[in-house]
Amino acid sequence: MEKLIVKGPTPLKGRVTISGSKNSSLPILAATLLTKEKCVIRRVPDLSDTNYMTQILAELGAEVERASGVVTVEATKIKSVAPYDLVRKMRASICVLGPLTGRLKKASVSLPGGCVIGDRPVDLHLKGLEGLGAKITVDGGDIHVDAKKNFKGSTINLLGKHGSTVLGTDNVMMAAVLAKGTTVIEGAAAEPEVEDLANFLIKMGAKIEGAGTHTITIHGVKELHGAEHTVIPDRIEAGTFLCAAAMAGEGVTIRRCAPEHMKAMLQVLIDSGFPLEVGKDSITIRPNPQAKGFDITTQPYPGFPTDMQAQFGALATVINDVSTITETIFPQRFMHVAELKRMGADIDLQGATARIRGGQKLKGAPVMASDLRASAALVLAALQAEGKTEINRLYHIDRGYEHIDDKFSAIGADLDRKKD
Ligand code: EPZ
Repeated sequence: MEKLIVKGPTPLKGRVTISGSKNSSLPILAATLLTKEKCVIRRVPDLSDTNYMTQILAELGAEVERASGVVTVEATKIKSVAPYDLVRKMRASICVLGPLTGRLKKASVSLPGGCVIGDRPVDLHLKGLEGLGAKITVDGGDIHVDAKKNFKGSTINLLGKHGSTVLGTDNVMMAAVLAKGTTVIEGAAAEPEVEDLANFLIKMGAKIEGAGTHTITIHGVKELHGAEHTVIPDRIEAGTFLCAAAMAGEGVTIRRCAPEHMKAMLQVLIDSGFPLEVGKDSITIRPNPQAKGFDITTQPYPGFPTDMQAQFGALATVINDVSTITETIFPQRFMHVAELKRMGADIDLQGATARIRGGQKLKGAPVMASDLRASAALVLAALQAEGKTEINRLYHIDRGYEHIDDKFSAIGADLDRKKD
């Protein structure tokens, strides 16, 4: 296993180029299963998660080639059974269920395991596919979908007790594009990554309206053709670097990002008093020793993203005030709190609300990475802690951040990747 040795405090300055979105790449790569023709996907980040997805496509029978950020897929002939040994490694693999159902009218995919941010049910995915007439059975840990008979469009509500489902919306949309008739998804997720998937499907010949809102209408077509697509920038990677740069330094500019996808998190930074210059595809941020605390509650898009709450927790430790963060999507998503407290952070966790009193210097310490975003929060804290921090189980970070150590080193961080 690898670990990251971070020496702090290091003032950050310079420019960072943001990679393509992980959470857009994964469903878009899965969507290439919907056609037998060649698809070319550009700006796919080099991550273990995207590598797992290309392996799954290949195991399903597709021809897959990858040249740096460009992935070419030709799914001429594919199987309907997703390989358990790969699917179990990444719960987002569930997003092959929709395209396999749409293309083959049958699919078998293992139930994704839980993960450290909590139980990861797929009941809404299955409800959506049943709404299209599919017969679903679950046995031996596998989901079996049979849509050979009366597979047709209908109106489906995908709202769950924690709001909309991103990959659930993706799966139903990818099945419905090849279902007879019209499907209306009510309570759809409105994330930019869902809209990006819809834009790719439209390039393939799908007929979709309303993607990016909470009601998506899909008019089924007989088949889809190949297409080329460039993935949108990763708004969570962009937000992660903004938090790092707000914590200390002389200002950092993030480039090739999409500020229009980041309104909720930018508003929090502006309201706290961090000076921001927002361009068309770049953002410059500087620290502010007089910054005010913030009160955040995570919500489905366009609300404050759950994938940014850990990073804002790290930012709160340097603000000389009290901040609160309430998590409504994954209430247990506070794996970073115990680790930040090992570094001296003053955080009180009551249920799904963390209360952070910042302003005192953190101290470097050995800490444990856990979920992807909690691990990123530890890097942010380590960059400004006094002394050395050792972040173990680095593979969590490599799942979602492309060349994170190179990018941080380029703006002044002192960090080294070491084998355990
Ligand atoms: C996507 O996961 C993202 N992953 C997650 O990012 C992100 O945290 C999440 O959306 C929320 O924004 C990818 O896009 C690959 P959900 P997803 O279905 O689609 C409940 C990261 O760090 N739910 O939108 O799996 C669920 O338990 C990752 O990049 C059901 O109850 O999440 C949760 O409370 C982590 N039943 C809420 O809905 C279902 O069938 C939102 O989950 C599905 C979900």
